[in-house]
Amino acid sequence: MSEQRKILVTSALPYANGPIHLGHLVEYIQTDIWVRFQKMRGHECHYVCADDTHGTPIMLRAEKEGITPEELIARVHGEHYRDFRGFHVEFDNYDTTHSEETRHYAETIYQRLKERGLIESRAIEQYYDPVKEMFLPDRFIKGECPKCHAQDQYGDSCEACGTTYTPTDLINPYSAVSGAAPVRKESVHYFFKLSDPVCQQFLREWTTGQRTEHPPLQPEAANKMQEWLGSESDNRLSDWDISRDAPYFGFEIPDAPGKYFYVWLDAPIGYMGSFQNLCDNKLTDLTAGDRLIFNDYWSKDSKTELYHFIGKDILYFHALFWPAMLEHSDFRTPTKVFAHGFLTVNGEKMSKSRGTFITADSYLKQGLNPEWLRYYYACKLNGTMEDIDLNLEDFVARVNSDLVGKYVNIAARTANFITKQFDGRLSSFDLNEQERSELDVYNKHVKQDEIDWEANSLEDDYRILPRRLEGGGDKGAIYNPSNMVARFIWARKRIELLYEARDFSKAIRAIQELCDLANQYVATMEPWKLAKQEGQSEKLHEVCTVSLNLFRLLTLYLKPVIPRLAKQAEDFLNIPSLQWSDAEKILSRHSINPYQHLMTRIEPRQIQALVEANKPTLQATEQPEPHSEQRHAEHQQHAIQPIADTIGIEEFGKIDLRIARIVKAEQVEKADKLLKLTLDIGEEQPRTVFAGIKSAYEPAQLEGKLTVMVANLAPRKMKFGLSEGMVLAASDERGGPFVLFPDQGAMPGMRIK
Ligand code: MSP
Ligand code: ZN
Repeated sequence: MSEQRKILVTSALPYANGPIHLGHLVEYIQTDIWVRFQKMRGHECHYVCADDTHGTPIMLRAEKEGITPEELIARVHGEHYRDFRGFHVEFDNYDTTHSEETRHYAETIYQRLKERGLIESRAIEQYYDPVKEMFLPDRFIKGECPKCHAQDQYGDSCEACGTTYTPTDLINPYSAVSGAAPVRKESVHYFFKLSDPVCQQFLREWTTGQRTEHPPLQPEAANKMQEWLGSESDNRLSDWDISRDAPYFGFEIPDAPGKYFYVWLDAPIGYMGSFQNLCDNKLTDLTAGDRLIFNDYWSKDSKTELYHFIGKDILYFHALFWPAMLEHSDFRTPTKVFAHGFLTVNGEKMSKSRGTFITADSYLKQGLNPEWLRYYYACKLNGTMEDIDLNLEDFVARVNSDLVGKYVNIAARTANFITKQFDGRLSSFDLNEQERSELDVYNKHVKQDEIDWEANSLEDDYRILPRRLEGGGDKGAIYNPSNMVARFIWARKRIELLYEARDFSKAIRAIQELCDLANQYVATMEPWKLAKQEGQSEKLHEVCTVSLNLFRLLTLYLKPVIPRLAKQAEDFLNIPSLQWSDAEKILSRHSINPYQHLMTRIEPRQIQALVEANKPTLQATEQPEPHSEQRHAEHQQHAIQPIADTIGIEEFGKIDLRIARIVKAEQVEKADKLLKLTLDIGEEQPRTVFAGIKSAYEPAQLEGKLTVMVANLAPRKMKFGLSEGMVLAASDERGGPFVLFPDQGAMPGMRIK
């Protein structure tokens, strides 16, 4: 394999004042696919993220809900993390910007910029709410649009006619916080001197790729930067206001009491904070001696790679402010910033009234499979800044025809013959000598040093490949299984380059071409007919063996996109977790497990239900911020259930609670509420427990986790089998069940007292 790379990847930090929705997920799924791909290739890759927790909106929202900002961000952190997990977005660390690590680096960077003379303070005049006694961000000033005279428009733009302006232009402005008329007031602010010639020159060089080995920006992003930067003689960069006055939820500036860092100063520093936190806490994940060192990734001379995945709306911060901050405080700058476009649903902006502003939580609660969406987004993503459209009809059609109809189908149509007629064992199979030697030649050519990693060199790379192995559409191949399997192996390099270039749509198309070829093979060989014919047993065995080898390769290629389905496929194929380098491992005389259905089709009515569920209720339409209003009421009105009668410690001692490992979690046929859990508490035999948690958990979410069980509860005979204990979970009318998970370090069998 090529040399091991060391890669740090981030996604933008979602604001802690709203739920994760399908728009966000474009980014987190895109990043997760890329990270999983890098990990599968054996590279050292770390994926960190965090909630972006500071700023006025969060402060005011907490106040409205009657809780502290700390309480608000803690709750939202839980919700965001749960949503990401639900979509199999697997961070190595999911932190918060409200952390000591982030504070430390914010202060360090600020101090260093100051030492370089790049921080300046001066008094500016701003709108101030005299009743609430706070300065007002533009968004919190409302009034009449100066152009179309629509009422109640925001201080930065009119939603009725689309005009943009400054709050001073509004007619009869008022504070959205207190309703009072805002007054102008002066205050000292701190600025990062981006207009300083040193910063300017650096940014001109950095954005155009003159400072780094590879250009750090996509071409269209680099062009935008030139527009924003202007030229040397016509500089358009102005200094950046990085301070806000109290009251503000954020970090106080060390030498300026009452002044806070503006949220966008510490937000990207949150990438560093989260990574520092990973370095400090997650050592157990790495083999001993292989400590993860912050400076390996962030020092000026770092040889590692750093990638930021972001939406095009926050390019300004990531391609100008952020590299300038890093450069002038002696840290490394990003290797690349990858900007993606925005999500539209059915060709239009997501809309609450149409029900297309779909939250991640509602998608999962409606029982839709997260991998359907992962697959669909992969079909659409291409590494540019173009917007991507979730067309709900196309979504159903694509997933059903490609993922279920083509990919899953290959296993579904051939596995049972192996199980029933050949004792679960594949026949002996290998590539012919010709294919072997061609693959050897090919492998020699594709050593990393001969590959240019840019996507546009794909065609060049193609030219060095043996002709005989090319293409997917050649029907002749299906009469030569060895040649066909070799083609599937050979396709790895092309798919690899496409994943690397984030051109997932082309990668999926390449994989679908292979799927088509595999299906043609099965359709032509008609194993179901062979099974009924005399003397065709050997042929049948070969056809099914070849098909399942093709299925294994397709699973390998799709795995970054559909990790859970791939895991189920690996279990069925009875193989260890597939790595990118495993392509050439042919399955021969290998025992597989009986086939169980891998994935269901999407029913169009599920989509209708999802859209309905996301339409605002009547009550909510009256409120500009339904979510916070609802929660507010909830917070005020909720009373907890009465506490049960007092017991003595002896009575409590009779209950034997143990830490248990959930070795296995399975659906129970015909049960609406139950999951079947296999629990290990260190006894010789694991226990079986039926738990009423099906509504809240997917089996795969639970497997491998530790939980708490009542170990001395009398066994109970249930319709589905014997239940030998009980797991603990919390619930009331606000939600649940929430299963209990112990703190890190607990071991199966430990008693809980
Ligand atoms: N908190 C800032 C980012 C700070 S990064 C140091 C922020 N948060 S956000 O919650 O508004 O957005 C998080 C990410 O999701 C951003 O990259 C944003 O572009 C992306 N998306 C939010 N809505 C989106 C769509 N509708 N479509 C695609 N991506 C979207 O910005
Ligand atoms: Zn207007």
